[in-house]
Amino acid sequence: MAEPDDNALVEARNLRVEFPVLSGLLRRKQVASVRAVDDVNLAVRRGEALGLVGESGCGKSTLGRAILHLIRPTAGTVLFDGHALDTLSEVAMRRHRRRMQMIFQDPYSSLNPRMTVGEAVAEPMLVHGLSDEGDSQEKVADLFRTVGLDPRMMTRYPHEFSGGQRQRIGIARALASEPDFIVCDEPVSALDVSIQAQIINLLERLRGALGLTYLFVAHDLAIVRHLSDRVAVMYLGQIVEIAPKDEIYARPLHPYTQALLSAAPIPDRAVEARRQRTLLQGEIPSPLNPPTGCRLHPRCPKAHATCRAVEPKLRQLDGQRWVACHLYDDAPTTGGG
Ligand SMILES: Nc1ncnc2c1ncn2[C@@H]1O[C@H](COP(=O)(O)OP(=O)(O)O)[C@@H](O)[C@H]1O
Ligand SMILES: [Mg+2]
Repeated sequence: MAEPDDNALVEARNLRVEFPVLSGLLRRKQVASVRAVDDVNLAVRRGEALGLVGESGCGKSTLGRAILHLIRPTAGTVLFDGHALDTLSEVAMRRHRRRMQMIFQDPYSSLNPRMTVGEAVAEPMLVHGLSDEGDSQEKVADLFRTVGLDPRMMTRYPHEFSGGQRQRIGIARALASEPDFIVCDEPVSALDVSIQAQIINLLERLRGALGLTYLFVAHDLAIVRHLSDRVAVMYLGQIVEIAPKDEIYARPLHPYTQALLSAAPIPDRAVEARRQRTLLQGEIPSPLNPPTGCRLHPRCPKAHATCRAVEPKLRQLDGQRWVACHLYDDAPTTGGG
């Protein structure tokens, strides 16, 4: 079951990623596999920022990497601008690569410590033939200004910068290949709260100025609130709810989304006092051996007999809301399904 979307720039269809679990003296024997991404259908529309949230380990980074084909999916397809990535020739794939970039939680790990940050930002331009040695300096200086850094810092090395500055360099490097789509993988999770807002504002401004499309990954709903047009919620390798931003915060449907929201404080004290909290029981189960039926059922306060036996499908309710939960089995659906 896909989410049909004519305006999608990027679409994951029945995407699955499995990692082998190895054992034995030389770790050569595969004893099982972890399904980190399990049959995900997701569309990111042109120009939108789609938030992707869920607890640590639920598969967000793996999904982001599989969408960029930095990890080869075990099954399923990724369509980028209408082209199935797994069918592209090497040359065509390189052309597409330029258009899809990633910003990491820790830009330090993706920056070569022996390269100046100016060289690091110039590299994607040179690799993709967008610039030559002659004009790359000027282009890098422009990018530094775009992300709020003084171009005179170009000759310094990564260790000379603060976390927030390094993230600006990571953003400049991602922008250097003039992408259309960027997976932002927890880009502010490692930063001080005061710096987080600056980076989120920068990303938001760049989206408008450059017409970018984002998949913005975070482990809590508060971070994606400012930036996202829609939010997708992930649990144990699957998408359990997708909704426009305002609706998901005002009226979360899935008990898991409700629990994620319950965990975050609401700044408005009157709203905070009135709200009902949904608390999950127990720990996250291992993705090695996910529960039967609905994967949330052992932790869900609203689970009933069907939830233990039957896996709920992601289905479209009114308007743009999608949910995978048996509590809504009797709710009317529109289109899709
Ligand atoms: N390279 C890998 N090899 C084996 N297992 C992995 C690998 N990468 C991720 N996993 C497993 O896949 C699941 C999802 O991980 P990840 O995508 O990093 O989650 P998240 O980004 O939501 O924290 C976890 O159970 C994790 O242990
Ligand atoms: Mg991650």
